[in-house]
Amino acid sequence: MILIIDFGSQTTHLIGRRLRQLGVAIEYIDPEEIIDQIKKIKPLGLIFSGGPASVYEDGAPDIDSKVFALGIPIFSICYGWQLMAQHLGGKVKNGFKEYGPEKLLLKSNYLHLPAKKFQVFMSHGDTVIKLPKGFEILGSTKQVRNAFMVDKDRKFYGVQFHPEADHTNYGLEILRYFAHQVCKEKLEPLDLNPQQIISHIAKKVGKNKVICAVSGGVDSTVAAFLIGQAIGQNLIPVYVESGLMRQGTKKLVKHIFTKLIKADLVIVEAKKHFMQALKGVTDPEEKRKIIGELYIDIFQKEAKNHQQVKFLGQGTIYSDVIESKGSKKASKIKSHHNVGGLPAGMKLKLLEPVREFYKDEVRELGRIVGIPKKIVMQQPFPGPGNAVRIRGEVTAKRLAQQRQADAIVVAEIKRAGLWHQIFQCFSVMSGTDSTAVKGDARVFAEVVAVRAYESKDIMTSKWAELPYEVMQKISSRIVNEVPNVSRVVYDITTKPPATMEWE
Ligand code: XMP
Repeated sequence: MILIIDFGSQTTHLIGRRLRQLGVAIEYIDPEEIIDQIKKIKPLGLIFSGGPASVYEDGAPDIDSKVFALGIPIFSICYGWQLMAQHLGGKVKNGFKEYGPEKLLLKSNYLHLPAKKFQVFMSHGDTVIKLPKGFEILGSTKQVRNAFMVDKDRKFYGVQFHPEADHTNYGLEILRYFAHQVCKEKLEPLDLNPQQIISHIAKKVGKNKVICAVSGGVDSTVAAFLIGQAIGQNLIPVYVESGLMRQGTKKLVKHIFTKLIKADLVIVEAKKHFMQALKGVTDPEEKRKIIGELYIDIFQKEAKNHQQVKFLGQGTIYSDVIESKGSKKASKIKSHHNVGGLPAGMKLKLLEPVREFYKDEVRELGRIVGIPKKIVMQQPFPGPGNAVRIRGEVTAKRLAQQRQADAIVVAEIKRAGLWHQIFQCFSVMSGTDSTAVKGDARVFAEVVAVRAYESKDIMTSKWAELPYEVMQKISSRIVNEVPNVSRVVYDITTKPPATMEWE
């Protein structure tokens, strides 16, 4: 087993995800428990994650320096590396910020990687400017000399970049080298086992009924499918028509629950409720909270219409949990309403069969159980829907504009045959007005932003280099077809630092 010491990075759980993918057993622990856990678990190696703090900050997570004398190999990432370097006599420089892809040039190909120069993903505020004794440089970027280091004798590795991020080329190879060659871990590839999940659900639910929140998206469809396989007609799928979803969603949900999963779908028409509750609300977190609470309220009321309902089924996945502060040291980015917004007095017990999995694993589970590619490969869509794609107040007029602009983005990306290459694409009502001249008249109207990007696991992303003709078509159609739009801009920001959604 390899222990992952969690210093609170948003991507800590991707480290585990990558190691699981390689077939390595892992466990996450907090830095304070390290010595006790090493004694108990006897790991073959340790990985220090990154984290949001600076080593110079008051209360920044620390580590017991005894860990460096135990003869256990350590691979340290970003904050973890800075902390290790500081403990071992190196020097960290504060305030050195870098976010996004950079090129790493290897000085020594000690790990036998397939290329000498490759892309790595950076996300840091500090860097190590003086190496501790015994360390040598394996690779540097233009700005960061000490980007990839090793102390060969002690088997300590340090990286300023994030090998766990999908946009680091050969990140998996680097982690494989550490796990397999350095720690001598046996690799037994991850087995996604739907049957095991189905039996677990059947045992947990027994003869009770499960009311399941469905949205037509991948996660809730796979969750509902697995629940349906486990308990048959005791599954009650409920789709809440909030008015905040993409055009065509209701039709898709009806299709799923008649053709793919045979269950009596309940559709609750609640658009008016949502619009009323969102009146005058502009704060993104407040929007999320209101929407989350309203959903739960509707589900609780719906549950009372059925007998023996004990569980609320949801398609929560791991990235929802981690972004809503799923680990002790991670900063809260935003409350995903299915995680952060659950009211304390909720009567139903939660049933979340895909909570431990990342998006690509959920897709693979869906594929294994035979859910058609069209559904499994759908783009993720935020629970609060278009409300978080409208900066400022969600009015009926702006919601209609947003849905229309979004439908144009989707249609044009599909027409260009790019739908499966792009992880998510959508429009955003920016909340800013600008000048345009339409039919010889000056108008001062809203700016629509278009966002499209590539990602595998939601945690990191790169904006898509859409062909100019596609961008032109999207832009022309939006300014011409959507009323009250003055211009269209394209968002060219990676994640990190920017999140995928604007709110
Ligand atoms: P961000 O914007 O955090 O988005 O980079 C990551 C992924 O999560 C989706 N998202 C949400 N999903 N409730 C959800 O269920 C939310 O509040 C929420 N906010 C973002 C987003 O669309 C992307 O796929």
